[in-house]
Amino acid sequence: MKVKKVIVTGGTGFIGSHTVVELLQRGYDVIIADDLSNSKASVVDRIAEITGKKPFLEVVDLSDRTACLHFFKIHSDAEAVIHFAAAKAVGESVLNPLHYYRNNLDSLLYVLEGMGQSACRKLVYSSSCTVYGQPEHLPVTEDTPRQPATCPYANTKRISEDILADMVHGDEARRAKGEGMEGDNPWKILALRYFNPIGAHASALIGELPNGVPNNLMPYITQTAAGLRPCLQVFGDDYDTPDGTPIRDYIHVCDLAEAHVAAMEYLDKPGFEGIDFFNLGTGTGYSVLEVIQSFERATGQKLNYKIVGRREGDIEQIWANTDKANRLLGWKAHRGLDEMTLSAWKWQENLQKKA
Ligand code: WQD
Repeated sequence: MKVKKVIVTGGTGFIGSHTVVELLQRGYDVIIADDLSNSKASVVDRIAEITGKKPFLEVVDLSDRTACLHFFKIHSDAEAVIHFAAAKAVGESVLNPLHYYRNNLDSLLYVLEGMGQSACRKLVYSSSCTVYGQPEHLPVTEDTPRQPATCPYANTKRISEDILADMVHGDEARRAKGEGMEGDNPWKILALRYFNPIGAHASALIGELPNGVPNNLMPYITQTAAGLRPCLQVFGDDYDTPDGTPIRDYIHVCDLAEAHVAAMEYLDKPGFEGIDFFNLGTGTGYSVLEVIQSFERATGQKLNYKIVGRREGDIEQIWANTDKANRLLGWKAHRGLDEMTLSAWKWQENLQKKA
């Protein structure tokens, strides 16, 4: 059966909220499951302002097995799940690893168990380019070997990919032995490896809401330009890159949102079953200094920054080969770096107005 109703876990978060907007605009019904640990319930009102439709929000902690299974029982008519809900701060995961393993892995296991109770077997999972570590060859394809994780957060993504692959394999093995349950559909899973999502919706009504001091480059830039932080520290200019600063594949969050809908629709393609992996990036890498230049050019703001020492655990450079996603999902990121930095700034300005 084609997907009509979708459960989006973490749907009030940064990437989740933009994906919910895209789903509603394409006519899907959306149920959000979120514990609001790193987002606000009012995001659903902003989503309604953009789309004219208010998604249903269930406040639930998916790492609580009883609560999670109850949630899936109530919403057993959903045909697909997009599972964003997870803790994602690299530094915090180093300080509090057990919380990260419990939160990110328990919730995945219970979501799968909840789906297993119903007929829902279609899942889009949020993975990360961190599974590649510092690759030997660039750009990275989906076949680039994964490397040991550099922090507990990244490890939860790597382990989650393994859990999904093992589950699909077990399902296939049982079917091959004729032990599949009657009427039970095979699992269809895509794990999406995000590169560096930045930017915000063009309406400036939804965007990234970091807790406390931002760890990531883009919110640090916008908060510095807004006067909330005195100065951006650029972590190292002695890398083996053209300007000495590290290179990443920054992708507009709206391009990423569109990719999730394409991925979910791909699950309905005749012949697809099992699990597959996709890189979601633009295919172009930019250095930290290039991001700063883009921000200054696009917004007309002058940014106060200084070069300091390297940040521990940072890799030098990575960007994606996106051929597989372009070809199979029929999707391509089309928003450029200036559009990313400008939209992030407009969102920051909007936040300031409300504060
Ligand atoms: C980008 C560049 C920093 C802040 C993130 C996530 C990770 C994964 C991939 C999802 C680096 C530099 C940053 C600052 C700086 N995402 N920087 N000053 O490290 O690529 O990782 O994306 O799974 O979990 O954390 O992104 O935005 O932190 O850094 O100079 O104040 O900006 O050194 O080169 P990163 P980032």
